[in-house]
Amino acid sequence: MPSVAVRLKKQVAPRGLLQAVLTQAVEQVQSGGITTKQKALIVLGLAVTWFLRRLSQMKPRRGKHAPGPPFSIFSPLGHALLVLEKYPDLPDYYLELTKKYGRTIRLVVGAPLSPLDNILIITHPDSVKHILKDNFDNYPKGEDLIDYMHEVFGRSIFASNGDWWYHQRKTASMIFTGNNMMNEMVKIMINNNEALVAGLKASSNNGAKPVDIQRFFLSFTMDSFCEIGFGIKIGSLAAEMPPKWKKFVECWDELQVRCPHRAFHPEWKLQKQLAKLTRKGLPLGFLCRSEVEVAEMEEYVNKTIDEVIQVRLKTGAATKYSVMAGEPQPGQRTAGSPRSPGRGSPSRRNSSKGDENKRLDAVELFMNVEPPMTLLELREVVKGLILGGRDTTGVSIMWTFYELGCNPEIESKLREECRALCMDSPAEFHDAVKKAKYLDAVIRETIRLHSPVPIDAKKAANDDVLPDGTFVGKGWVVTYAPYVMARDEEYWGPDAEKWRPERWFEGSLAVKEPSPFVYSMFQAGPRICLGKDLALLEAKACVALMLRAGVSMTLWPGEKEPRYKMGMILAVDDGGMPMKVSFDH
Ligand code: HEM
Repeated sequence: MPSVAVRLKKQVAPRGLLQAVLTQAVEQVQSGGITTKQKALIVLGLAVTWFLRRLSQMKPRRGKHAPGPPFSIFSPLGHALLVLEKYPDLPDYYLELTKKYGRTIRLVVGAPLSPLDNILIITHPDSVKHILKDNFDNYPKGEDLIDYMHEVFGRSIFASNGDWWYHQRKTASMIFTGNNMMNEMVKIMINNNEALVAGLKASSNNGAKPVDIQRFFLSFTMDSFCEIGFGIKIGSLAAEMPPKWKKFVECWDELQVRCPHRAFHPEWKLQKQLAKLTRKGLPLGFLCRSEVEVAEMEEYVNKTIDEVIQVRLKTGAATKYSVMAGEPQPGQRTAGSPRSPGRGSPSRRNSSKGDENKRLDAVELFMNVEPPMTLLELREVVKGLILGGRDTTGVSIMWTFYELGCNPEIESKLREECRALCMDSPAEFHDAVKKAKYLDAVIRETIRLHSPVPIDAKKAANDDVLPDGTFVGKGWVVTYAPYVMARDEEYWGPDAEKWRPERWFEGSLAVKEPSPFVYSMFQAGPRICLGKDLALLEAKACVALMLRAGVSMTLWPGEKEPRYKMGMILAVDDGGMPMKVSFDH
C-alpha cells in the first residue's frame, strides 16, 4: 500500500488537504491503527494546511483586501477571540471599526476547522445594493446559519434559498402585503391594546411600581401575531396565562437565545447527534444537556402549532373566539370585517364565506393556496410570521416609548396629534394613520436608530469584487449593518446618533424615504422585508392607541440606561426596561 503522503499528493490540491488528511487518518484508525510516522505526517499536514490557508488569506485573488484590525499571520484564530469578546456589543464594535477603517472592513476568523471564514462588514450603500440586489444570486443565506438556526427558522422563508424561497415568497407576498392581513391586524391590535393598557395599569400601580415594558410589548406582539397567524388568543398579557401557551412562549424565546449562540460553538453539531442518542435512552446527557433541551423545546413548539393547524384543517376557519381556550372573548367582535379577498389573494374557502363568526388569519389564507400546502409547510408559514413580526415590532414599540420618555416635548406634540385622529373603528384607522405625519416620523426614526435587526449576514457563493474594489472570497460571510448605517453622518447629518423625528421633515427626507440601501433596516432587494407596511402600521396603531389612552412612561428613577442585548433582534439585556408608567386619567 502506498504511504499516506504519496496518496495525498496524488489525490488532493492544497486547499482540500485537511479533509484528505483527516479522511486518511480515520481510514487508518479503522484499519488497525496508525504508526508514529503517520501520526507525525498528519500533524505536519495539518500545520501546512493551516499555514497555506492563512497565507491565502493575506493576498486577495482579485481586487484588494478591505482594511481591518491588525492580526498576526501566526495566530491560529485571527480575530476570532476578539469577535467573541466583543460579541455582547457587536453593533457598537462594528460602529467603532467603521469609524476607524471605513465602510468596508475585513475580520479574519476561524482556524481551518471553524465553520466561519472571513467576515466582511459593509456599510456603503453601493456595496449593500451590490449584495442585496445587483449580485443577489451570489449572496444567499449561508447553509451554516440555516443549520444552526434550524429549530427557530425551520424551513421557513427565512431559512431558504433558490426555488423553495421563491415559492414561499410568492405565496407569502400575496398575504402579508394584502389588505386582508392589514385590516385583520388592525382589529386585533385594537382589541389587544385594551388588554395591554389594563396589564400596564395593574402592574404599575399608577407609577408606584417599575414595569418591564420589554416583557409587556413582546407579550403584546406575541398575542397579536399568534392571533393573526393561527387565530388563537394565547393570552400572554393576561394575569393567568394558560400553562400550555406559557410554555410555548418560553420555549420559543429560549430557542431564539440558544440557537444563535451555536455560531461560536462548533461542537454543537456533535452535541446535537449525542442529544439524539440521549433522547433514545443512552446515558450521554452530561455531554449535551443544552442540545437535549433545544430538541425538547423545538418538539414542543412544533407539536403545539401542529395541533392548532390539525384542528383547523378539520374545522375550517377559526371562529372569532379562541379555538383552544373555547371561551368567548369579550369585545372580540369588531365591525367592518373584510369578507372578500384582496386582489391576487388565494380564493377563500366556503367554510368562512358569509359567516360572521369566522375570521381571517394566516392559516386560513394559506389553506387556500394552490397547490395545497402540507401540514409542515403551514407550520413553517406560521413560524415565519411570528419570527418575522413579533420581536421586531415589539422592540420597535418599546424603543419608541423609551425615547418618548426621554423627550417629553416630543411626546406631548405626538399625543396631541394622536388625540386629534379619528381612529375609533378599524375602518377609519388606515386613513387616520396615513394622515398622522408626526407619528410616522416618530416610528421611522425609532426603527432607524434602534434598528431591530442590527446586523444581517449573507454568504458568498463564489469569489466576487464589491463596487469599491474589495475582494470577497467564496464562503466569506458578508454582513451589512443597519445599526452602523443609521449612525453615518453623511446620510443622516451631524446628529445622526441622536433620536430626532424632526429630521424626517427636513431636506430630501421631507420628500421621500431614502433608498432602502441607505434606510436598510428592512433589508432591500428581492428579499426586502415582506412585513414592512404591516410593521409600520402596527407600531403606529399601538403607540397612537396608548397615547390616546393617556399612558406615559419614563425610565424608572435611578435606573441606568438600558443596554442592548446582542441577538438576532435588538432587545435589551436581562434586566429588561424598567419604566415608571402613569396614566393621565
Ligand atoms: C420593525 C419591524 C420589522 C423589521 C425592522 C424587519 C426587518 C426585516 C429584515 C432585516 C429582514 C431580512 C432578514 C433576513 O435576512 O432573513 C426581514 C425579512 C422578512 N420580514 Fe421583516 N421586519 C419587520 C417586521 C416584519 C413583520 C411585521 C412581518 C410579517 C408579518 C415581517 C415579515 C418578514 C418576512 C416574511 C421576511 C423574509 C423575506 C424574505 O426572505 O424573502 N417582518 N425583515
